[in-house]
This record gives sequence, structure tokens and C-alpha cells, in this order.
Amino acid sequence: MEIIKTYRSRRDQVNFESLGFGEVFSDHMLTMEYKDGRWGSPQIVPYGKIEIYPSICSLHYGQIVFEGLKAFYTQKGAINIFRPEKYHERMNLSCRRLCIPELSLALFMEGLKELITVDKEWAPRKRGYSLYIRPFIFATDSFLGVKVSETYRYMIITSPVGAYYKEGINPVKLITPVEYIRAAKGGLGAAKTPANYAATLLPAEEAKKKGFTQVLWLDGVERKYIEEVGTMNIFFLINEELITPPLEGTILGGVTRDTTIHLAKEWKINVTERRVSIDEVLLASKKGSLAEVFGTGTAAVISPVGEIQYGGERIIINKGRIGSLSQRLYDEITGIQYGERPDNFRWCYLI
Ligand code: COI
Repeated sequence: MEIIKTYRSRRDQVNFESLGFGEVFSDHMLTMEYKDGRWGSPQIVPYGKIEIYPSICSLHYGQIVFEGLKAFYTQKGAINIFRPEKYHERMNLSCRRLCIPELSLALFMEGLKELITVDKEWAPRKRGYSLYIRPFIFATDSFLGVKVSETYRYMIITSPVGAYYKEGINPVKLITPVEYIRAAKGGLGAAKTPANYAATLLPAEEAKKKGFTQVLWLDGVERKYIEEVGTMNIFFLINEELITPPLEGTILGGVTRDTTIHLAKEWKINVTERRVSIDEVLLASKKGSLAEVFGTGTAAVISPVGEIQYGGERIIINKGRIGSLSQRLYDEITGIQYGERPDNFRWCYLI
């Protein structure tokens, strides 16, 4: 792999003691072209502007996929990339839905390993902080007809990050919009593609204006079953059953969702992937059997939900405080990520 290093690192301009999310970018980035039916060879170059034609089809029609994973500076000084194979699997799933050529696991891993090694000093040392890794692929044909592109560009950029929500691990407040949906069956909901996030911007802005942190998404057909929260998967602890909506095409298969399911099962918790309606949650809340609600995602890890507004009803969960299962999951997942707890499932890729 060709590596062209920057002659001047920007690292000393960054305050690693107070990082937001995705605001600063490491010194280097990886780039690789697809043409004539195959991926070329990757290159690592200084992070900076890229040159593209204004006519490239992805700018107009959104033929793009992306991923988001994290690397952690562990206790022993190694860098741990958490579950990279699982993110690779999801990226290829998104590629198939968006008619984008897939990437082999070997190429994906080689790119990650080389880029993180070059910029390993950008992995924050502070607990709660990490190096967020953003691989993405966009179509580059210069053509305004709506069709599948024949050329693409794969890139990886990385960003030292702190908490995703300003609340950190403190519970967030959600509202369920009646007039918007995130995805419908047969659509793009299960793919990690920008259109899904674009669809959430207006509802999220309206929610924020009303004093809520994020939106709780209901299904696109009956507007009854809960699907996701903001950009995360969601879990409910009702009567000692840990419920999360099933992956039936409208929901993104979160890696943290999968991690949570594995850990909860290991802890002998009754985990079910089944449909859960907002009415069931409301009823459970009234009966006092709704113990916890939390979102799972790579960026925030575990994000407890303290309140849900649905129509005229207000559901307060666990008195607006973080629940013990949410806390236990957060501690265990981050413990494994920082190399403080045993990696029983072999999720850690150390470099
Ligand atoms: C996540 O990692 O939970 C997300 O989906 C957020 C990301 C798009 C910044």
C-alpha cells in the first residue's frame, strides 16, 4: 500500500481532554478507486480536500454507503478495533442494496490496520473517548441519468471523539412523531446509507424545538410498532424480558445491538427479538412493569431513555434515571473495548 505522510501533523492543535463527536479529523485518510470492474490499490494520504466533478451521480442520487466503528486505546497500550468483521459484513449488505461493488474482508481489514497504525497517536487515551472510524463508498460516474455507476471511491477517515450526546450516559427524552416515518418495508431502512439519515433531520429538528433529544420511530405501515430511536436501535426491559424489534428489513442491524443481545444472553437474561407496540410500552408503564428503555449504537454505546412522549401521554422510565441493566451493559461493553474486561466473544482486533 502506498503511504504518503503529512509533513506537518495537526495533532498538537487538538485538545484531547475535551472532544465532541466528529469535529476533528486525524492526519491521514485512505482512498481507493473502483473502475473497469475491480477495486484498485489503496493509498494513504494526508487528510484534506478531495477533487470531484459536480456531476458525480452520488451527489445527485445518493448512491453511497458508509460505516462507523471505533478503535480504543487499551490499558496495555494496544489499539483495539472493536468487531471490525461485523461492520464489514454490514457494509457489504448495504453495498448490495445500493448496487455498489462489495469490498473483500482482506481489503477492508488491511485498510483499517494501515490507516490506524499511521494515525495511532490520534486514538485518545482518556476513558470514554475513542477513535471513530468512518469508511464510506460513493459513486463517481459523471452522469445525470439515474443508473448504477460504473466507478466508485472508497475512503476511510478517522476522528478522535468523546460522547455522542451531550447527555453522555444520562437519559434522553424522546417524542414519537405522527406525521413522519423513517423507513418502510422494501425500502432502505436496513442499509447504512445517507438517505436514511437525511429523512430523520426534519423530524429531529422539530423534536429538538419541542425540548426533546430525539425521535422514537414507529413502523411505516401501522404506526404502532416501535422500530428505532434517533439513529440507534432500541431495547425495552418489561417484566424481566429484554425486548428489541426484529430485523425485518426496516431496521439497521446494529453491531452494538448484536453485542447487547450476546451479553444479555450470557447473563441469562430472557432476550427476545419481537415486535413491540407503543401501546404495550404504555400499558407496561401504567402497570409499573416497564423497568428500562435504552438505545444502542456505536457512537453512544448505550443511551438510556428517561422519557417518551406519545400523543397526549408521557411515559417516565425509571424516574428518569439510568437503569441497572443499562449501566451494566455500558460498563461491560466499554470494559471489553478498553481491554479492562475479558474478551470472551473475541470481539477485539488488536494492533
Ligand atoms: C451510531 O453509531 O449509533 C450512529 O448511527 C450514529 C452515527 C451515524 C454518527
